[in-house]
Amino acid sequence: HPLDGLNTLGLSARAAHFMRLTREADLAPALALAAQRGWPVSLLGGGSNLILAPYQDGLVLQPGFSDCELTPRADGSVEVRVAAGHDWHALVMAMAVRGLWGLENLALIPGQCGAAPIQNIGAYGVELAEVLEAVELRHLDDGRAETLSVEECAFGYRDSLFKGELAGRVMITHLRLRLSTRSRPRLDYGDLGQRVGKAPTPRDVAEAVCAIRREKLPDPGELANAGSFFKNPLVSAAQAEALIDDHPAMPHFAQPDGRVKLAAGWLIDQCGLKGWREGPFGVHERQALVLVHHGGGDARGLLAFAERVAERVRSRFGVELEREPRLMGRFD
Ligand code: EPU
Repeated sequence: HPLDGLNTLGLSARAAHFMRLTREADLAPALALAAQRGWPVSLLGGGSNLILAPYQDGLVLQPGFSDCELTPRADGSVEVRVAAGHDWHALVMAMAVRGLWGLENLALIPGQCGAAPIQNIGAYGVELAEVLEAVELRHLDDGRAETLSVEECAFGYRDSLFKGELAGRVMITHLRLRLSTRSRPRLDYGDLGQRVGKAPTPRDVAEAVCAIRREKLPDPGELANAGSFFKNPLVSAAQAEALIDDHPAMPHFAQPDGRVKLAAGWLIDQCGLKGWREGPFGVHERQALVLVHHGGGDARGLLAFAERVAERVRSRFGVELEREPRLMGRFD
């Protein structure tokens, strides 16, 4: 089964078997079949944070169920229970239009809701973990259901238990989010505050975020990419200080744990790589943190291209860049 259209990097890949689950109840029979045939099971969401190697063994499952239920609470908050297969951006806009606060800064992030906790999606000063109450999941080995509280998910910057201990072992089936009817705009990041008027609605903020993203980030429908290809690196205070001495204009953000987060896009940009292209792959011309695929390349080529970018940053700044999208499958 071809997976070419199911990953936003547009990499060519085939799965031995593929199934889109239209109901959560379809998972149990799919797992039983895989167990009977001895197929390993792997999961695909919207394919927007993924590097697909050419071959996927066994059964690839994609959640396709997308129910969404709102429960108002006495304290002015609203619990939203949304299924893994629901489109993330569609959820953000639907909630913003209803006047519910909490998701608006996370507008236009591609992908499905079920994938959002894996990397703890974050943008414009807000991370998913701040509005998430719980994650409902099923274990792939025996199909049992479990609900994890947000504390149990071990969220960090672009990190969670789903990338660690639970990687490849569970399917996230639903998210439980806590949104609010009370005004609480978060406008500190970049020039977001200048882009919205006084007393904005959640919809105003979401639309401003969409506008900023459209200016900088390539639409995967037009130019294949997986968003930020590298995480923003965390370095020690001492290393940051030395770098700032040499490069006073370098963006840097002190973290609660004493480390300092640097902007990988800035580091790559400073190496003169913005807009650099080699064969099928390139560094996006408006946001150096995004690698783009012009077509005809494969995962191996992309990883080699990314390593050349990382090497330039390493030799210029002594900073190690870590890849953000997950690699899935095998090369031969
Ligand atoms: N910068 C440059 N040149 C570039 C890119 C960035 O000088 O080519 C500078 C910017 O001027 C700014 C700083 O670097 O001073 C940060 O740039 P930006 O605000 O564009 O954000 P980012 O740190 O590059 C992160 C996330 C994005 C998210 C934005 C906005 C990561 C890995 N990336 O990017 O997330 O949309 O902040 O919050 O944390 C993603 O994860 O796929 C993603 C797009």
